Amino acid sequence: MSERPFLSTQHLCKYYPGVKANDDISITINQGEIHALMGENGAGKSTIIKMMAGASEPTSGTITVDGQTFTSLTPQQAKDLGIEVIYQEFNLVPSMSCAENIFLNRHTNQGFLVDAKDRADRARELFKELGVDIDPDRLISTLSPGQMQIVEIAKAISTDVKLLIMDEPTAPLTVAEVELLFKIVADLKKKGITIIYISHRIEEIFAIADRVSVFRDGHYIDTMKVSETTRQELVAKMVGRELTESYPSRNVELGEETLRLENVCGNGVKNVNFTVHRGEILGFAGLIGAGRTELMSVIYGAEPLDSGTIYFHGKPVHIKETSEAIKLGIGLIPEDRKNSGVFQSWSIAWNTVIMCLEKVSGKVFVDNKKEKEVVDHYVRELGVKTPSNEQLVKNLSGGNQQKVVLAKTLAADTEILIFDEPTRGIDVGAKQEIYALMNDLVEKGHTILMVSSDMPELLGMSDRLVVLCEKEQVGIIEKKDFSQEYVLDMASGTK
Ligand SMILES: Nc1ncnc2c1ncn2[C@@H]1O[C@H](COP(=O)(O)OP(=O)(O)OP(=O)(O)O)[C@@H](O)[C@H]1O
Ligand SMILES: [Mg+2]
Repeated sequence: MSERPFLSTQHLCKYYPGVKANDDISITINQGEIHALMGENGAGKSTIIKMMAGASEPTSGTITVDGQTFTSLTPQQAKDLGIEVIYQEFNLVPSMSCAENIFLNRHTNQGFLVDAKDRADRARELFKELGVDIDPDRLISTLSPGQMQIVEIAKAISTDVKLLIMDEPTAPLTVAEVELLFKIVADLKKKGITIIYISHRIEEIFAIADRVSVFRDGHYIDTMKVSETTRQELVAKMVGRELTESYPSRNVELGEETLRLENVCGNGVKNVNFTVHRGEILGFAGLIGAGRTELMSVIYGAEPLDSGTIYFHGKPVHIKETSEAIKLGIGLIPEDRKNSGVFQSWSIAWNTVIMCLEKVSGKVFVDNKKEKEVVDHYVRELGVKTPSNEQLVKNLSGGNQQKVVLAKTLAADTEILIFDEPTRGIDVGAKQEIYALMNDLVEKGHTILMVSSDMPELLGMSDRLVVLCEKEQVGIIEKKDFSQEYVLDMASGTK
């Protein structure tokens, strides 16, 4: 690998009202390397790549690409320099096909729009090059997140890409999809493409990156060769102190039964049977597509129950709408924060109290003091990085938006909490806070149902595990039998 820089920044700054998102960043990305960016939620990772891609204008400083220096880039200039980004939130048109998305608004050398047949052929070739089998005519809306990711990559490499920037590409992927993505990334590197890779999953950095740069609080901290650092050192640089990463233990006596499902079928999921108690964290394991999120929608009343019975404190209940679930005391922290989690153009404060208005209202209006107490509490507990509680959610970093989704459901103080991928996109420090908070909740007598694709987290936090495979329950595992292999075997249907 060469030590020749492909892109560097000089004293780059990006300020928003009350926020120094990037403060005096000078960083060098070498030609042909896989360069990881790490840092806590809100550290400034997405901010710097947006400036590299011409999607946002620096407040001051310069960017040098291939020897040319700019005070800011337009999106077209960035493209012409060979810089392509796959953002944290996908940028695809769901109602269009893969091929249409890849060649959206693209012209041939002669200036004509690429025609349909040509598009499909070229898309097919790209997929082949990436080693995947996707029909170019398939609509984006029918793809799994992993397949969408691949379409994004195909779109990027269909141009003359020199620097491919990926912002948390593995967050929505299954284990198998992550492996495929790594293979693709390694192939791109072999072709001489430079890669910037953002992820909160430290093991991924050690698996594929050459170097890693750490950001903290808008500042650049350090760049290290991955082969010359350790997980501990990396985490310490990120959070600015030593952090022991372990699952906090708890000592909770399980209380009475809170929720029981008998032969529950609905939303494509079949034959689910389990009982859960006060003070218990019941984990749900399974591969993506196993039906875990679908099952949670049934329990939460977002999808109808086809047959079977749900008992709440021993009594059969018919939850036909989510509002009924909430009234009973069942809350859900959804997997998809963008669409079902929070209102993007509302403030943190409003999003937090919207499900617990009775808690914060005065005689007629919202009591500002009570509201502030509730909001301050969760902003502090979850470490939401923001200049004020009035900040609009859309102005928060990805991970901090996720924290507001958590705050909203936690503030509602429901007896049964369904957490669907609670720590996806959340940094290491905040993860520890969330685990501590979950322990607090069960110690107070709440019940938690947790769906997670993070196996160590599932094993570390659950009391028992319900395993689903292809939309059916295949077993329940007791804590004493927990092991990664056992769970994976069962989840893949081999046990
Ligand atoms: N449009 C905006 N207006 C105001 N503040 C913003 C805006 N965009 C980003 N910020 C702030 O800039 C800071 C850096 O955000 P950025 O998105 O770069 O973080 P990040 O490192 O990508 O975090 P995450 O891991 O959560 O994705 C955050 O405090 C964020 O709230
Ligand atoms: Mg980000």
